[in-house]
Amino acid sequence: MSAGDRGKLPSHVAFIMDGNGRWAKKRMLPRKMGHRQGVKALERVVDACAERGIGMVTFYAFSTENWARPQEEIDALFDMVAEFADTRMTEYVRRGFRVMFMGELSALPDKTKDAIARISAAAKDNTGMIVNIALNYGGRDEILRAVRTVVGSGVKDVDEQTLSDCMYTAGLPDPDVIVRSSGEKRLSNFMLWQAAYSEFVFMDDMWPDFGAEQVDAVLKEYASRDRRYGSVKRIG
Ligand code: IPE
Ligand code: IPE
Ligand code: MG
Repeated sequence: MSAGDRGKLPSHVAFIMDGNGRWAKKRMLPRKMGHRQGVKALERVVDACAERGIGMVTFYAFSTENWARPQEEIDALFDMVAEFADTRMTEYVRRGFRVMFMGELSALPDKTKDAIARISAAAKDNTGMIVNIALNYGGRDEILRAVRTVVGSGVKDVDEQTLSDCMYTAGLPDPDVIVRSSGEKRLSNFMLWQAAYSEFVFMDDMWPDFGAEQVDAVLKEYASRDRRYGSVKRIG
């Protein structure tokens, strides 16, 4: 990456991890195996982003709509989250990463909630790369929660900042780029408020195939974009 490109390194990259099921189906494996490989891909992507100096990474792991899946798959997913929190995330905390979770966590199984609470507490004083996992997360649900908080507080003078301050990402940068794997081109209720000016990168690779190569492709694509925020094209 040239010195010029480095100036256009995103502060926050968010990933919609999609295609685990199709990856497994193609190999005649149960969907669960796709999710297992998906966790490995997440680990490769975290390492690649940390090496390249990204400040914050967000991963969409379970949506408010994913409860519609078979119970067996849901159980397997939350078991994997608990295991991931107790193992790899413990290493992340040692590496100084700030791990956080966003979503309606109260609905998760106790085992998963406990693991999340332990790792969040262990990471609370860290200042390194932020690793944010969206679990039972919905963009509309997040906006609704924020509105309810504001209404409940009785504040009348409501502006964008008031609502931003009630989001899970309060005080953190909006995603500069949102990446979705598996060829699907939609947000599926992800970071609706924060995505106002995000760049989008849609890639055909299934999530379990993601790693450093895909991260570099995203960063290259991002560096080539001209973000105008409603203004006119930059000169030069
Ligand atoms: C993404 O992969 C993981 C989650 C949504 C938990 P999918 O499970 O959606 O995989 P496909 O879309 O069925 O291939
Ligand atoms: C989006 O993937 C949610 C996550 C990646 C957690 P889905 O596979 O659930 O999205 P749809 O149903 O294809 O829109
Ligand atoms: Mg999917």
